[in-house]
Amino acid sequence: MATLPVISPRLFVRSSVLAACAIAALFLLQCSGGGDSPIFVKAPLPYAEDALAPFISADTMGFHYDKHYAGYVDRANDLTKSGSYAGKSAEAVIQMTAGDASKAAVFNNAAQAWNHAFFFQCLKPNGGGAPGGLLAEMIDAAFGSFANFKKVFLTAAKDQFGSGWVWLVLDDGKLMVITGANADTPLAHGQIPLLTVDVWEHAYYLDYQNRRIDFVSTVLDNLVNWDFVALQLENAPPSHT
Ligand SMILES: [Fe+2]
Repeated sequence: MATLPVISPRLFVRSSVLAACAIAALFLLQCSGGGDSPIFVKAPLPYAEDALAPFISADTMGFHYDKHYAGYVDRANDLTKSGSYAGKSAEAVIQMTAGDASKAAVFNNAAQAWNHAFFFQCLKPNGGGAPGGLLAEMIDAAFGSFANFKKVFLTAAKDQFGSGWVWLVLDDGKLMVITGANADTPLAHGQIPLLTVDVWEHAYYLDYQNRRIDFVSTVLDNLVNWDFVALQLENAPPSHT
């Protein structure tokens, strides 16, 4: 996972895989109940498919949520029906398959299911702009200003070659912008995800064609659900200032 050199001077938490799992549980509830229950559950979209228009059209959201995301959830469940995955949570499946080439199909579909559920929660109608509170303070500390954070985030989106994700994460007490190719996810690296934007072409091509940066910039300006992002930060493990 590519990491950009953006560091907060503020000691906040020491992230861990377990911490990431705890945060994951806040919004996804993808944990298996055991038995024959599917591990992956298609999380409800927290707004109507046309609610983010004109910035993300109903067509784009419909295909993204009902086809791409649903496909990852279904395939992940097919691949984890039996064997060592029985009774595991979605997050545990991601962590037990990360970096194992023989389990790449499971990891890719499991991580994509998780990443998409997180991404959809990162958006809302009438969102975007600058956050407030502790999140704003930490962004200023890490990036110098919110404007510079946007610049770093957009540069990361531009430089991500091919399909992938751009993330704002908490990593060992530091706010960082990172990118991940294909299905890569902070959960596989012991980082706490705070915000992500999907930069697979299916996320924007119908509305923006090849203009990926216009899409990401539009998301930052108009759609980010900073309350959700702040909640991930607030529920991180005990802080140390
Ligand atoms: Fe996607």
